[in-house]
Amino acid sequence: MRAGETAGAAFVTGASAGTGREIALALAAAGHDVAVLGRRVDALEELAVEIAAMGRRALVLGADVREADQLEAALDRLLDWSDGRIEVVVNAAGTTGPLSPPIGQYSLADFDSTVATNLRAPFIVMSRLLPVMRGAGRGRIVNIGGNHGMRGRAGRSSYSASKWGLRGLTRSAALEAGPDGVTVNYIAPGPIAIPRMKANWKAQAEAGGISEDEALRAYVANMGIPLGKPSEAEDIVAMVMYLVGPGGRNITGQELVIDGGATVL
Ligand SMILES: NC(=O)c1ccc[n+]([C@@H]2O[C@H](COP(=O)([O-])OP(=O)(O)OC[C@H]3O[C@@H](n4cnc5c(N)ncnc54)[C@H](OP(=O)(O)O)[C@@H]3O)[C@@H](O)[C@H]2O)c1
Repeated sequence: MRAGETAGAAFVTGASAGTGREIALALAAAGHDVAVLGRRVDALEELAVEIAAMGRRALVLGADVREADQLEAALDRLLDWSDGRIEVVVNAAGTTGPLSPPIGQYSLADFDSTVATNLRAPFIVMSRLLPVMRGAGRGRIVNIGGNHGMRGRAGRSSYSASKWGLRGLTRSAALEAGPDGVTVNYIAPGPIAIPRMKANWKAQAEAGGISEDEALRAYVANMGIPLGKPSEAEDIVAMVMYLVGPGGRNITGQELVIDGGATVL
């Protein structure tokens, strides 16, 4: 790619923090102009400055993905900004929802909110952008699920169900869009050492009167991770970049589990 040329427009939801933020930066580093979406506009503005410093265009889209009107309005702005061409879509916005109530104590409002974030939002995004990508005869979509979408887990009903549903959406979209040259894949991370998770581990250490190393070891043992450590955001980023790069051109409808071996099916 020559100086000043772009690898095309990319769109990342959940880019204000954690893994989505790192994915947006990696896409910019690979030459994409990047549109970034989340609710925290200040954090997105800071990210946009970093993207611009790499010589790429950035578009900040403030929206709550649970609100269809807000998401649709953001997608309108995205398509205006990109002249109706989108090369890469990464649905990374996600929430765990409440982490421990069993079914029976889990509120319908919490269930709906988790499903709206993790499953309905990627559907809205793909409803709008897949026809555009299929019309162009190319494009890559990566949905960030979770290894709880590969298995059940007590206390994670809405999270597991929403991430499991996203697998079905991914596979169906892959079958529909494949003949038009668009790939759609699913990445299933286990725990990722992003700032939110590190804060959790620190709180667990303080609550238990143990060191942060001990708290992390206990967490890893509890999660049954054979490789003995959580993933880093860069592990997920590397898979996204593979799927959207030359290596991913003939991969679609797949679920790539990155969890240190916690889920071996
Ligand atoms: N971290 C892990 O251990 C782990 C494990 C498995 C799967 N995952 C998945 O990986 C993806 C990234 O998570 P993360 O943990 O790296 O990041 P994170 O720090 O939890 O950040 C979540 C991102 O999603 C956005 N988001 C959440 N709800 C939203 C809403 N209603 N509207 C718009 N944006 C929303 C947040 O933006 P705003 O707050 O600005 O709205 C933020 O940018 C998620 O899909 C998550 O489920 C994470």
